[in-house]
Amino acid sequence: MRKTTLIIAILFGSFTFYQCTGPAAVISSPADKELAAAVKRWPDATKEQLTEGYTIYTTKCTKCHGDKGITSRSEAEWATAIASMAPKAKLTDVEKENLTRYVYTARELGAVK
Ligand code: HEC
Repeated sequence: MRKTTLIIAILFGSFTFYQCTGPAAVISSPADKELAAAVKRWPDATKEQLTEGYTIYTTKCTKCHGDKGITSRSEAEWATAIASMAPKAKLTDVEKENLTRYVYTARELGAVK
C-alpha cells in the first residue's frame, strides 16, 4: 500500500519536473522579460503583439503538426518557414509580423547556445 503511494508520488513528481524543464518551458506566455528583449530589436514592440504571436504559434501553427521547436532552428530558417507557413495558417501581414517577433524573442531567450 505505502509502496504504491510512493510510486505514484515519484511518477507525479517526475511529470511535474518534466513540465518545468521540458520543451514546454520554451513556449511560455510573453511577460516583461520577453518584452524587454523584443523592444531592443523593435522599439515599437508591445506585450500585446508578443501575446498575439504566442497565441498564433500555440494554436494555428501547431494545429497541423505540433510544436516544431522554437530553439531548434536559426532565425533564417524560421523566416523561411514562417513565409511558407503563413498562407497555410491564413495569417494577415500584421499577424505574421507578430508571430515573427514572438518566435525570434522566444528563441533568443530560450536558446541554450
Ligand atoms: C494547413 C496545415 C499547416 C499549418 C496551419 C501550418 N503548417 Fe507548418 N507544415 C505543414 C506541413 C504539411 C509541413 C511539412 C511536413 C512537416 O514538416 O511536418 C510543415 C512544416 C513546417 C516546418 C518545418 C519546415 C522545415 O523546413 O523543416 C515548420 C518550421 C513549420 N511547418 C512551422 C509552421 C508555423 C510557424 C506555422 C504557423 C504560421 C505553421 N507551420 C502552420 C503544415 C502546416
